[in-house]
Amino acid sequence: MEQIIHIPVLQKEVIQYLNPKPNENFIDCTLGQGGHALAIMEKTGPGGKLLGIDFDDNSIKDFETIIKNNGLEKRINIICDNFANLKKIVENNKFGPIHGILFDLGMSSWQLERGGRGFTFQKNEPLDMRYNPKTVLTAREIINQWPKREIEKILEEYGEEKFSRKIAEEIVREREVAPINTTFRLICILKEVLQARYRQEKIHFATRTFQALRIAVNCELDNLGEGLNAAMEVSPPGAVIAVISFHSLEDRIIKEFFRANEKTGKINIITEKPIQASEDEVKHNPRSRSAKLRAGKKI
Ligand SMILES: C[S@@+](CC[C@H](N)C(=O)[O-])C[C@H]1O[C@@H](n2cnc3c(N)ncnc32)[C@H](O)[C@@H]1O
Repeated sequence: MEQIIHIPVLQKEVIQYLNPKPNENFIDCTLGQGGHALAIMEKTGPGGKLLGIDFDDNSIKDFETIIKNNGLEKRINIICDNFANLKKIVENNKFGPIHGILFDLGMSSWQLERGGRGFTFQKNEPLDMRYNPKTVLTAREIINQWPKREIEKILEEYGEEKFSRKIAEEIVREREVAPINTTFRLICILKEVLQARYRQEKIHFATRTFQALRIAVNCELDNLGEGLNAAMEVSPPGAVIAVISFHSLEDRIIKEFFRANEKTGKINIITEKPIQASEDEVKHNPRSRSAKLRAGKKI
């Protein structure tokens, strides 16, 4: 099978702002395929440690193999958990002193291509969308069981979808005919409502609906708020918190978080403006187009 590798976004810039040095310790809250983690570890040898967290135990398996093959087991601790629990994870693992914390939000190319959980509208997969199958809510449940108004609300809030009411109406009508269990069935329904309306848009007509469902299923915005607050609590003075977001809802939360903590004298924002990918990076990795990096140094 073709090897699909997640290309880490803004890698050079992440390293510039985290500025890892020999024997320093870092937390990667969104380990994924470990691209950023490896780049950090290259700079923190011989003794620097990394605490790598990811909620999706499947997607970090490849990285566990890389770690073993490179004899890095002693320097990295991989934890499958929600970064909303960051404080407890740090305490349980007695990890420190911490020099920096990275969040690279959303999902990886691996999850899109190989996850098999319905993150992509390019493949016919079960409508699941959970990062971690131990959590309860699935996209299938939202689509088939939630009231029309609730579906409309998440499409509007989390997808910023202009046609949320029309989509919700069509979903409710179609689920009466037969349960909507797969990505392709949902795509067919969306196509009916949206294809003509999205003709002039650059994005695929299903993008906003899929984003909204993923955010709702994984409580992404709540987790982000909790994760950032926990990062503040566990960071000692001088530690850098760096966050990469991929859409305006996330970026708004991050901007507010840094501004509020700067106001109270707890953090120094070190990215004057959000850092975005260069034209060259976007050419090589289209996923980086919407990425924004913000970073602050704990006072
Ligand atoms: C964009 S990928 C990270 C890619 C990684 N930086 C790399 O270089 O390979 C985001 C990762 O965050 C994980 N994730 C999303 N929400 C999470 C959460 N609340 N807690 C822990 N991990 C989460 C996803 O499972 C995914 O693997």
